[in-house]
Amino acid sequence: SHDITVLGLESSCDDTAAAVLRGREILSSVVADQTALHAAYGGVVPEIAARAHAEKLDLCIERALSDARTSLSDIDAIAVTAGPGLIGGVLSGVMMAKGLSAATGKPLIGVNHLAGHALTPRLTDGLEYPYLILLVSGGHCQFLRVDGPTTFYRLGSTIDDAPGEAFDKTARLLGLPQPGGPSVEHSALSGVETRFAFPRPLLDRPGCDLSFSGLKTALLRQRDQLVSDQGGLHPQDISDLCAGFQAAIRDVLVEKSNRALRASDGITGFAVAGGVAANTQLRAALETLSLDHDIPFVAPPLALCTDNAAMIAFAGAEKFAAEGADDLTLTARPRWPL
Ligand code: KG4
Ligand code: ZN
Repeated sequence: SHDITVLGLESSCDDTAAAVLRGREILSSVVADQTALHAAYGGVVPEIAARAHAEKLDLCIERALSDARTSLSDIDAIAVTAGPGLIGGVLSGVMMAKGLSAATGKPLIGVNHLAGHALTPRLTDGLEYPYLILLVSGGHCQFLRVDGPTTFYRLGSTIDDAPGEAFDKTARLLGLPQPGGPSVEHSALSGVETRFAFPRPLLDRPGCDLSFSGLKTALLRQRDQLVSDQGGLHPQDISDLCAGFQAAIRDVLVEKSNRALRASDGITGFAVAGGVAANTQLRAALETLSLDHDIPFVAPPLALCTDNAAMIAFAGAEKFAAEGADDLTLTARPRWPL
């Protein structure tokens, strides 16, 4: 069969991205991140993000087409993130995609950003449906059984913070640099994970829902205790706190994954995606668990785990094959649960 060539666009958070995909081959993938623009504000500023997306999309598309040595006329379809996300950014992408579709007559496909993440293991490793995925990032934490390009069954999700958020807050509380995940992981390498007690939230309750806000509270209490006892934190204290915190996250994610795997008959694999999936200790623990269940484990390369447009192009191609195209009434949706 003929593999279609898809231009993908992503602008739902703080990365502007464009990619060209043919079948499962990524011909190009351009990501312009806005970290520097938001650095002074301690978080993503929606107004600044929307403006930057509107300014950068053109260039990203041009670069994606030229990197792929192709042109708009050779593209078969245009896929764009239509939600969920910051409305200004999603709108920029949807307007751009509609304009391109109207001007070229190519089909337009609106893609759910989370579906993009969830379908990535199929793009990278050809996983067959159904499979289980743990999405674990700065904004998400959920278990999904992926039954088809637009068919997802959610087994559980966080009831408060996402783990990446918890890593970032922990780093802030301990005076380590952002993003917190890598700096906490690094500090934990020389730490003793059993020195400080951290809770394992929600393990006492059945099901696959997760909670992480209690870890931050526990960390704050331990830190303040150390400061009042000894007048400050020693480097070893920081490492021990990081190790204890990281171990708690790992244990919770492993036990909930264990339950999700037990509840998922007939899956072809267990995949993990999102920025936190970069954590070496967590990745290793999840892989061991998966193999204990006799289920192949897939952890896509990090560049495809974090926000990118290749995953949007792929999810668009899968949706197009199953359901056909959208039309120019496609709208941007700030909220769009799977
Ligand atoms: O998927 P991602 O790039 O962006 C979204 O959240 O959409 O994930 C970023 C998150 C940040 O919170 C960052 O601290 C975390 O992933 N992260 C890590 C590691 N690398 C990045 N968390 C734990 N260990 C890491 N090595
Ligand atoms: Zn994302």
